[in-house]
Amino acid sequence: MKLEQRYEGKAKRVYATADPHEYVVEYKDDATAFNGVKKAQVAGKGEINNAITAHLYPLLERAGIPTHFLERLSDREQRVRAVEIIPVEVIVRNVAAGSFCKRLGLEEGTELARPVVEYCYKSDALGDPLINTDTAVALGWATEEELTRIRELALKVRDFLTPYFEARGIRLIDFKLEFGRTHDGQVVLADEISPDTCRFWDAATGEKLDKDRFRRDLGGVEDAYAEMLRRVTALA
Ligand code: C5P
Repeated sequence: MKLEQRYEGKAKRVYATADPHEYVVEYKDDATAFNGVKKAQVAGKGEINNAITAHLYPLLERAGIPTHFLERLSDREQRVRAVEIIPVEVIVRNVAAGSFCKRLGLEEGTELARPVVEYCYKSDALGDPLINTDTAVALGWATEEELTRIRELALKVRDFLTPYFEARGIRLIDFKLEFGRTHDGQVVLADEISPDTCRFWDAATGEKLDKDRFRRDLGGVEDAYAEMLRRVTALA
């Protein structure tokens, strides 16, 4: 099924298949933070992130968000639509945390009166710098129309996921999305949605159940990821 490797990122490898319009994505246990400066293996992470993404993407499809996801193939692998990744990372924030607090001098947990959508240039070498949509258009990374669609889809993802997690005792603080273009020019949600790419706080205790446990040396990384898989797949 898997042919030559097309791309290796920090957490995943992407392979070509016999079908030019499909790829296989393989999730790794590698954890990195601060643009790859901090590295470790987190046992079971690849399987958990694969399972969480494979659970959520079909639900998002049903909510009207086109995605690259086709099928989970194994513990670590999924079959996806081949896309060209648009090099703009889209961050959606419900509550102030992380770099938003650092940049603006806010306390983590500060409520936001409305969701905030931010854009970063996907570049490890530059540390994914914050950009605006004019920059993305001026440098040819996406068209104005694509960026309008991306913002609309990102907010739709937020509108689906926020109550979904709330029903499972989780506050969705913020998350990062990536979008791709299919061969026929459709913009679809790509990449993953997992504790690597979201901030999840336990609604009752405030405990962090995401990659901040790794970034901030809080311990219990594996347990937090396993707990998130349980919550995501719980019927509630
Ligand atoms: O660090 P920052 O506060 O900007 O992160 C916002 C959200 O985006 C967090 O959920 C974080 O996990 C995610 N993120 C990501 N990949 C990056 C940067 C941020 O998944 N390169």
